[in-house]
Amino acid sequence: MKTLSLITGDKLPTTGLGLWKIPGTDTSRVVKEAIAMGYRHFDSACDYGNEAETGEGIADAIADKLCQREDLWITSKLWNTYHRRDHVRPALERTLKDLRLDYLDLYLIHFPIAQKFVPFEKRYPPEWLFDPDAEHPAIQLDKVPIHETWSAMEELVKAGLVRNLGICNFGTALLQDLINCSQIQPSVLQIERHPYLVQEKLVRFCKQVNVAVTGFSPLGAGSYLELGMAEPADSVLKEPIVKTIAENHGKTAAQVALRWGIQQGTSVIPKSVNPDRLRENLDVYDFELTLGEMHSISALDRNHRFNDPGVFAESAFNTFCPIYE
Ligand code: A2P
Repeated sequence: MKTLSLITGDKLPTTGLGLWKIPGTDTSRVVKEAIAMGYRHFDSACDYGNEAETGEGIADAIADKLCQREDLWITSKLWNTYHRRDHVRPALERTLKDLRLDYLDLYLIHFPIAQKFVPFEKRYPPEWLFDPDAEHPAIQLDKVPIHETWSAMEELVKAGLVRNLGICNFGTALLQDLINCSQIQPSVLQIERHPYLVQEKLVRFCKQVNVAVTGFSPLGAGSYLELGMAEPADSVLKEPIVKTIAENHGKTAAQVALRWGIQQGTSVIPKSVNPDRLRENLDVYDFELTLGEMHSISALDRNHRFNDPGVFAESAFNTFCPIYE
């Protein structure tokens, strides 16, 4: 599989399996099946609530000699409640224990949002609400600057527990500030990215500062339909131009959307629990979109963000918590 060269020299496979919303009961099967099909990049997070099952799938695959640990690229993410210096290493150690690994390839700050600490014994993963049983449950923020969290993450690299560091859901200003205060530069920025949310300037800025981009939700609305955060009409896969391009190449609309991301020099992490779609999402390396096709897909941009804490945190968690404006 094609890879992106990171600032550390490590190589990130351009297609990974996104593990967000894969039910715990399916996760170990899906991870093992994906490895058998050729997936080598897995995008996990404490907050997804399925790291122990992901670890089981990885361990099964290694035991069955489908791959070795070094063949895999495993990403995980620090949850918002663990941004304080003293909580960063225990959070990573819990993730490693669940994943049954002794190092991560990439550890990301999940959101530029610091929430009040919730101990493991109280709730894991803690999710967004500080106290779901409170009379008025809400998100409680904590005053932790990003540089405090980052310097604690840098210690994880020095301890050999993590090979690369990165962030998710940052814009250009915050990313520049992080670079200015870091000893170890971020290798990767993970952002929502599909033809309805192209983020041309952010991707261009990342190239300029040598930070690789991973696009989550690369298929667009799909993951948000079941959450009531998108309508079927929002689907980029139904766009006539995407369907026509797909037909021209004998590929599916999903493969065209993924290929568009890869050809722009980003990596993509589509989620699927379905073996046929898992295979389909990996089968994107035997065709090339023309420049004209790339432009017409990019022209679909509507700056439509499905995953926006400035919207969902208020409707679902009673807290106005914008980060992109
Ligand atoms: P499923 O898990 O049943 O396959 P994204 O990662 O962009 O958020 O997209 C994930 C959503 O899109 C899920 O609902 C997933 O459903 C669906 N999906 C994954 N792969 C494909 C595909 N190749 N074609 C259509 N839908 C897909």
